[in-house]
Amino acid sequence: DVHSYAVDLDVDVAARRLQADVTISAVASQPLAAFNLDMEGFDIVSLEVDGQPAQTSRLAGELQIAPADPIGQGEAFTVHVSYAGSPGGLQADGLLPFALGWQFFDGGAYVASEPDGTSRWLPSNDHPLDKATYVLRVTVDEPYDAACNGLRSETTAPEGRRTFVCEMPQPMATYLATVVIADLELEHAGTAAGVPIRNYFPADMPRTARQEFDRTGEMLEYFTSILGAYPFDAYGVVVAPIELPFALETQTLTLFGIADHYDEGTIAHELAHQWFGNSISLSRWQDIWLNEGFATYASLLWFEHRFGAEPVDTEIHAMYRVLMDSNDGQTMRIGAPPADDLFNRAVYWRGAMTLHALRQEVGDPLFFQILRTYVERFRYGNATTDDFIALVQEISARDLRALFDAWLFQEKVPFMPGWGAEPGF
Ligand code: ARG
Ligand code: ZN
Repeated sequence: DVHSYAVDLDVDVAARRLQADVTISAVASQPLAAFNLDMEGFDIVSLEVDGQPAQTSRLAGELQIAPADPIGQGEAFTVHVSYAGSPGGLQADGLLPFALGWQFFDGGAYVASEPDGTSRWLPSNDHPLDKATYVLRVTVDEPYDAACNGLRSETTAPEGRRTFVCEMPQPMATYLATVVIADLELEHAGTAAGVPIRNYFPADMPRTARQEFDRTGEMLEYFTSILGAYPFDAYGVVVAPIELPFALETQTLTLFGIADHYDEGTIAHELAHQWFGNSISLSRWQDIWLNEGFATYASLLWFEHRFGAEPVDTEIHAMYRVLMDSNDGQTMRIGAPPADDLFNRAVYWRGAMTLHALRQEVGDPLFFQILRTYVERFRYGNATTDDFIALVQEISARDLRALFDAWLFQEKVPFMPGWGAEPGF
């Protein structure tokens, strides 16, 4: 059970090389003669457990560690790993349209690890069940900046280099840790309800594109009003100067690539993940609808707040029609998606529709009470689909298992409660 990661990275962008020192503080939840960390690539320079050199071996994505002395159940221990090498050679098994983990590009580097790419830059217990706090220290050459999760400070390092120190004192799942290195400009967007908003943009990113993030403070205030306090110390985005086919809700600092246009729905979606996905984490990846369905529905709530219920209803009808017309919509059991298709659009859309159906069934006061209670009860922890359903049953005092079964576990998209026989299309 990892409590904290202290990560010290020395980055050579030109040589596309990392040198790293990682200290992991953990507690043994059972007696350990040996244990594994997730780790891929790199050469291990040294590894100590509680200051004593330990025996190591590598097997597939595992780093196997045999400490000099066995560790007793309940004992705290530290692992210190020094390693070096060039990350990014490993691809995502063809399952995703992009590679996971640490990626260098001309002019910098970025990290995007969902679901399990963290081991490609950080020896870790790479599963959202083992959340931990982090301090990331990143040393780079001029003119590079490093943006990373949490509040950042900066110190000078020898030879005109700079070290950026980022602190994440709230628990974070491994896949949400990120570093972006580039020629970046930091902009403070003021505070929303006392939460600092800071964005990192590529130095050459035009003002008009930066302005598309201007509503973030308003969004943060709106989500706070319906969900309760923002769970972290700051928020903002980092735009890496490279095109990316996705955005990722890296904790407190959503990652975007460069684009001509940043979609307001996506900006709201990634912010909503800070509550749904980051503060409350999954316990198992097959419950991914708890992240994507909730964040998608939250973005619809933002549009409802701005433009009223009607355009949102039109949007949900459109999702229904597209899903009905496609194989995924007809066959995807979003409560148990295939491991190689976690991010299917049906998980996003039908997940949002599941919440909309629940809302039609219980009415607004209970629906929003359910969301707020869920956010509060599982804050900084982990939940499962069953946890959510149990909470719904408790708050509504109704048996809604059939609704969840139809929406999450049957193949065909259900018809929305409240829609007439012929929905409006
Ligand atoms: N969680 C991201 C989102 O907000 C999706 C990331 C892209 N896909 C992935 N395999 N990680 O929708
Ligand atoms: Zn998402």
